[in-house]
Amino acid sequence: MSDTKTPMVKADRRLSASGDANGAARTVHIRTYGCQMNVYDSERMIDLLRPLGYRPVDDAATADLVILNTCHIREKAAEKLYSDLGRLCETKSEKVGGMTIAVAGCVAQAEGELVRKRSDVVDIIVGPQAYHRLPELIAKAARQKGDALDTTFAVEEKFDAIAGSRRAGGVSDFVTVQEGCDKFCAFCVVPYTRGAEVSRSAAAILEEIRLLADRGVREVTLLGQNVNAWRGEGPGGREWGLGELCRAIAAIDGIWRIRFTTSHPRDMDDGLIAALAEEAKLMPYLHLPVQAGSDKVLAAMNRRHTAADYLQLIEKIRTARADIALSGDFIVGFPGETDEDFEQTLALARAVGYASAFSFKYSRRPGTPAAALPKQVSDSEKDRRLEALQSLLKAQRDAFCDSLVGKTLPILFERPGRRAGQLIGRTPYLQSLHACAPASMIGSIAPARVSGVTPNALAGEVVGRAARGLPAVFKAEDAEAPRE
Ligand code: SAH
Ligand code: SF4
Ligand code: F3S
Repeated sequence: MSDTKTPMVKADRRLSASGDANGAARTVHIRTYGCQMNVYDSERMIDLLRPLGYRPVDDAATADLVILNTCHIREKAAEKLYSDLGRLCETKSEKVGGMTIAVAGCVAQAEGELVRKRSDVVDIIVGPQAYHRLPELIAKAARQKGDALDTTFAVEEKFDAIAGSRRAGGVSDFVTVQEGCDKFCAFCVVPYTRGAEVSRSAAAILEEIRLLADRGVREVTLLGQNVNAWRGEGPGGREWGLGELCRAIAAIDGIWRIRFTTSHPRDMDDGLIAALAEEAKLMPYLHLPVQAGSDKVLAAMNRRHTAADYLQLIEKIRTARADIALSGDFIVGFPGETDEDFEQTLALARAVGYASAFSFKYSRRPGTPAAALPKQVSDSEKDRRLEALQSLLKAQRDAFCDSLVGKTLPILFERPGRRAGQLIGRTPYLQSLHACAPASMIGSIAPARVSGVTPNALAGEVVGRAARGLPAVFKAEDAEAPRE
């Protein structure tokens, strides 16, 4: 998944308490690190806890239950857990009525025992494929005064268990369709923390999305560590790939926009490319990480494609959908990467012209094959390369944003902005756009002319009527994204 763009996303959606059978009122605070799948998981945890009487709160100090939903992808992300636990130690000792602390997510999975050793304030450790058992674990921790651990891989059982309590989270929401990874890139912990690739059934996904549409969700983002490796069964037992699934989702009336992330270049099959070309509800934005531009480094990373394969694929996708905006992930300073190798990463980025992209310094992760490789690159060299790459990617992003100024784009308005009278919506290319508009426009798509670019968003003016309750889809030719 495309991760950690927002290093710490607080799951602060306020949801009303339903109270439990005994009327017990309890509070839960969830802090979410890492990727969108963790955001999805945190929301499902709240859904599971609501029937027990838990109400989500923003302040950890007042919460009866604090859940840290962690990320293990880079050392810095993992270490955040321990600094948070350090701070929570005092909070817990001062909290009248006690506090239960749970560590969930990928750090729990990868090093649950170590978490237990490094911090004695933790009561529950639960992996990403076992969190549907949180209610039992909370009861167990209360009985045993802490020490409940569950890091089993029970992914199918989990999906069945969370389906019943699913709530909608606004105009745009996530739906996990695939989990786990069989790719084993040499640098990456995900195959170990999330387990093997598992696809949810088409029937379960469509049912979840119909329910979301009934509750006002207009845009769904399908999530998977390798979302385009999703495989399932359509009507009559026909084998479906992600393209067929997207077409079936597009046939659901209330759903106007579909996105998916994160794709792997090797799983970008013709069926999905054809769906991107033909299905206007599929948004023209694709996150397709490449990681590096040197074939030698790509081979050492076990990506199993070359730079030329990737560029050809991009060409094919652009031929199918001319307005596609591309996004990617890069790693600099992989073991053995030389200056010449890095130059090839810059050359590849120049050849593609990304609308947005994320780049990271290689982080040596315990248990991954790359951690044991010779020729680790020095931190100062990684810093230098990261700076060079990020300045190129920023220039590309700025150029892309600038090229939209003066254009009219369909905006799906999602929520109020910070200033009175302002709403925030998204362009088809996933950029946030601010515009003055009445609150009644939330949940509709309206045309807005882009008037300017701010550091993190676009500014615009609504120039036409909002479409409400209609499959308001603008055709690709309304908004042609520039190539480089
Ligand atoms: N399946 C997703 C991976 C999620 S991790 C994908 O292929 O995109 C998101 C990004 O984190 C990866 O694309 C990679 O760029 C980066 N990443 C993963 N492991 C890393 C490591 N050890 N050091 C630095 N960056 C890493
Ligand atoms: Fe990690 Fe590679 Fe799998 Fe992505 S495809 S999750 S980078 S192993
Ligand atoms: Fe996501 Fe981080 Fe786990 S990126 S899959 S939360 S290691």
